[in-house]
Amino acid sequence: VSGRVSLAVNGERHTVTVDNRTSLLDLLREQLGLTGTKKGCDAGACGACTVLVDDRRVNACLTLAVRLEGAEVTTIEGLAPGADDELHPLQQSFIEQDAFQCGYCTPGQIMSGVGCIREGHTGSREEIREWMSGNICRCGCYVKIVNAVAQAAR
Ligand code: FES
Repeated sequence: VSGRVSLAVNGERHTVTVDNRTSLLDLLREQLGLTGTKKGCDAGACGACTVLVDDRRVNACLTLAVRLEGAEVTTIEGLAPGADDELHPLQQSFIEQDAFQCGYCTPGQIMSGVGCIREGHTGSREEIREWMSGNICRCGCYVKIVNAVAQAAR
């Protein structure tokens, strides 16, 4: 069974036909070609697929695309303000803090960090760590990731 859904991704409106079982992650990557959002576990355990839906952090692998009628989705591709090569402050702080190694989890870490900052969970390193705990980094860059989020939150 499939359905039609109309949603905005990074400010651009799309009307797509999706199988009822299609995840937002597969819609983004396979149908819309937005491969910045990563598939790690595909089961809600790693955070690599984190995007914002109506400004809230979600695991795109656990979100059914067909339920997103009218939603506003922001992915890593839509985070920078768009002017020249200007980055979002958190993207900039990830570079300055050297907050990645292989980089596979980085888009999800950054989208989650943006959510963390917007939600105001940046009062201490412990608080950042706790509210970023849904995002796994196999390279173990957690100290630097917390540095980056704390820098951008200042
Ligand atoms: Fe969605 Fe791992 S790919 S949480």
